[in-house]
Parts: sequence; structure tokens; C-alpha cells
Amino acid sequence: MTAVQAPPSASEVLARCRDLVRPALREAVERLHPWVAEMAGYSFGWCEVGGAPAAAPGGKGVRQALAVLGAEAAGADGRAGVPAAVAVELVHAFSLLHDDIMDGDPTRRRRPAVWKVYGTGPAVLAGDALFALAVEILAATPQGAGAVRLLSTALADLVRGQADDLLFATRPCSGPERVTPEEYRSMAEGKTGALLGCAAALGAVLGGADEPTARALDRAGRHLGVAFQLVDDVLGLWGDPAVTGKPVGGDLRERKMTYPVLAALGSPRAGGLPELLGSPERAAEAAALVEAEGGRTAALAEARAHTAAARALLARAPLAGDSAGDLFRLLDHLVDREL
Ligand code: IPE
Ligand code: MG
Ligand code: MG
Repeated sequence: MTAVQAPPSASEVLARCRDLVRPALREAVERLHPWVAEMAGYSFGWCEVGGAPAAAPGGKGVRQALAVLGAEAAGADGRAGVPAAVAVELVHAFSLLHDDIMDGDPTRRRRPAVWKVYGTGPAVLAGDALFALAVEILAATPQGAGAVRLLSTALADLVRGQADDLLFATRPCSGPERVTPEEYRSMAEGKTGALLGCAAALGAVLGGADEPTARALDRAGRHLGVAFQLVDDVLGLWGDPAVTGKPVGGDLRERKMTYPVLAALGSPRAGGLPELLGSPERAAEAAALVEAEGGRTAALAEARAHTAAARALLARAPLAGDSAGDLFRLLDHLVDREL
């Protein structure tokens, strides 16, 4: 009798993809100016300030895994997706370097953010360098022009999402100018979903996928991104800072229109919420009111709806081998993380 092997868990899939991509990612970063390479290495968790080797938390590696699984979904060996994986991890790191400056967030992954230790100018520069490196890597693939086009579309959406994220914080909490759930969805799809979708689609394209398969992966990744962002919003309000690596209440302090806040603002009993938003001293009070008015439950229900939409898209797409199973487990893992 042959033993039936259990499918790999999401953590095992993430680890397998990380091991596959890491040498190429490190080799790419080593091509940068040494000072810039050190900032990149620090943000990936490979070194301390000054360059001494470290094994600090460097992110889950979701985007690189999606790129590898995208290539496998196209019927190719996961190695075909490595240039896509390297490019999307570089772009992700770039977007975080700049995002922490935009958000004024002093910590990332339990360590001081790059701009806090190296300065704002150097952190902007390191972000620019990572972006340029990502383009160079994709341009050197056989699918060069198409791959770079996919990345630039995703980046344009990411910038649109970031712009809305920043602008929403200045909008009123009530009346016709209030941010709607549909506006939130579009913002989250841009700032978070575009790159996740692009990761899977780019991997598929490098693996030789046809257009409809790449498009289905892109759309599924975008839904995953919205779900991921909704969970991120929940963790930002009620997560354990020791696990999230970010201070609780950062979004409230910045008056971010996160989904739990938007949902709670829709409740007739949340009249006191607007004056609590933006006040660092009253963040705990605001979080309690948002929870009491159903903001947490609504955000998690919305996250599940987006994971279900991603699943439905993947189930309909002709994906090769075990890639669909791996993708499904990854979806569930990301939405259930640390809740
Ligand atoms: C980050 O969004 C999105 C990009 C970097 C494009 P957030 O600002 O909501 O994410 P965190 O909480 O800083 O990770
Ligand atoms: Mg941020
Ligand atoms: Mg932000």
C-alpha cells in the first residue's frame, strides 16, 4: 500500500518558494551601490545597520510565492518564475520603504523603519534603486517588453491606490463626501492587490501561460490583495504589536479610512467616533467603539467574500499540477493569519 502524502501547508509552500528565490534576490541586491545594498539588505532582514549579517524577520514572501506558483500554474518549473519573483519582491520592498515615509511609521517588522535609521533621503533613494533593479531584471527575460508592461500597469494602480489612501484621510467622516466602501475597495485593490495580482500573472507569463490564464491569476491576486488589506486593517487596530511588528493605533493616529472605521462610521451609534480619529491619546477608545459598532466583524466578512471570489476565479482557470491547491492554501493562510 502506498502512503498518501499530505499536501504541503501554506508555510511549507512559502518556505519552498523563499528558498528557490533567495539566491537570485541576494545576487540582484549585491549589484547595487554598497550603501543602497545595505539599506535593501536591512529591509529584507539580512543585515543590521552597518552591514553585519542578521536573520531578522523579512516578510512572509507572499509575492515571490505567487510568482513561483504562477509559473507552475502555467505548467512550467517554478524556477521559470524566479525573475518575476525577484522583481516583485524588489518592488514590494521599494513600496514599503516609501510607504513608511508617507505614513510616518517609525517601525516595520519589529525594527526601526529604514528612513528612521538611515534618513528619509537615503530611504527614498534605496526605494528608487530597488525599482530600477526590478525593471532591469524583467527586461532581461525573454518576455521582457510584456513583463515590464505588466509591472508598469500594476505600479500605476499601486500609485493610484496610495494616492487615494493618503487623500481619504483628509475626507469628512459624514455627509456626501464620506469615503464609500466601493472607494475603499478600489483603493485597496490598487495599493495592495495590484502587485499581488501582477506577481502571479508575471510568473505565469514567464512560465509560458496564455493570456486568459495570466489574467485570471491577476484578478484572483487582486481579490487576495483586498482581503489581505482588510485583514491588515483589522490587525492594525487589534493585532498584537509583538506579532505584527507595528504599533497599534497607527492607522487611527493618521486618521486612515480603514474598512473597520468606515463600517463603524455607518452605524447611527458611532456619533462620537469622528472626534476620536486622529487623536493618539484616544486610539484605544476609538478601537473599542469601532469594534462595538461592528467594524471588525464587517471587515472580516468582507475579507472572506474577497477570498471566495479569488477561489472562484482560480477554480475556473486551467491551472496545471498542484498549483491550484497550493494557491488555495496560501489564500486561507493569509486571511486567517494571527487573528
Ligand atoms: C502599504 O499599505 C501599501 C504599499 C506599500 C503600496 P499600508 O500603509 O496600509 O501598509 P502597512 O500597514 O504600512 O504595511
Ligand atoms: Mg503604511
Ligand atoms: Mg500606507
